[in-house]
Formats: sequence, C-alpha cells, structure tokens
Amino acid sequence: MLRKTLILAVIAATGLAGCVPAPSQSGRAVFDASCAGCHGTDARGGVGPDLTLLSTRNGGSFPMTAVLDQIDGYAQGQPGRARTMPPMGDLMTGPLVRVDTGAGVTRPVPEKIVALSAYLRGVQR
Ligand code: HEC
Repeated sequence: MLRKTLILAVIAATGLAGCVPAPSQSGRAVFDASCAGCHGTDARGGVGPDLTLLSTRNGGSFPMTAVLDQIDGYAQGQPGRARTMPPMGDLMTGPLVRVDTGAGVTRPVPEKIVALSAYLRGVQR
C-alpha cells in the first residue's frame, strides 16, 4: 500500500498522470503534522500564504519545482533563504526517490516531500 501510494505520488510529481490525482493520503498526514499550523488545515493560509492558489498564481500550472525547492530547501536549512519557515529536518528522513523536474533531468528528493508536493498539487483550486 505504501509502495502504491509512493508510485502515485511520483507519477503526480512528475506530471505523468493524465488527470489530477486525488490528494495523496500520506502527503496529507505530513501536511497536517508539519504545515497546517501555519498554512491552515485546509491549506488556505494562516501565518503562511494560501497554498491552494499556487497553480492559479503560476498561470494555471502547478509549480512543482518551486514547491520542491521551497520545502526541500527549508528542510535542508539552506543558508540565504528568508527564515520565516522553520527548518523541517524530519522531512529529510527516509528513502529518496528520483523526481523528473523536466527535460529529463531528475533529482533525488525525500519521499515525504514528494508525497507532500503531490498532496498540495491535489488541493489546488
Ligand atoms: C512557522 C510557520 C510555517 C510552517 C510550519 C510552514 N510554513 Fe510554509 N510558509 C510560511 C511563511 C511565513 C511563508 C511565506 C514566506 C516564506 O517563503 O518563507 C511560507 C511559504 C511557503 C510556500 C511558498 C508559497 C508561495 O506563495 O510561493 C510553500 C510552498 C510552503 N510555505 C509550503 C510549506 C509546507 C509544505 C510546509 C510543511 C512542510 C510549510 N510550508 C510549513 C510559514 C510556514
């Protein structure tokens, strides 16, 4: 079951799915635990911005690479970023999966972050 969820998450993350996938359940759990406090239980904003309008603000397509950069970057505690989101190092635990970021370029991303990104993609309105 976990493996199936991950495969769906990777498909969603790489844009291979022909239609919008249902929000990833494992991604939802990560969101509730790590993000909902600031971005709202429905992801519609709070201390942090509304995360259901990322596609709308990006001309209608989900900005997967930017979202991965945002979450992965914070999780890694990269220097030079606005430090308004806390480092989320526990998202870095667990296996890595390769995500196609376009033009055949892949990068390794922790599977929790891939699932989270798939969840966010699914809640766009
Ligand atoms: C302590 C509060 C806080 C937590 C926890 C938090 N965020 Fe944020 N988030 C913010 C704030 C404030 C911003 C806007 C400023 C910035 O980019 O740092 C933001 C920005 C973002 C953005 C960019 C939004 C845009 O409009 O471009 C994304 C994506 C995001 N957060 C995702 C997440 C995810 C996913 C989690 C959980 C892993 C998370 N955040 C946890 C406060 C938080």
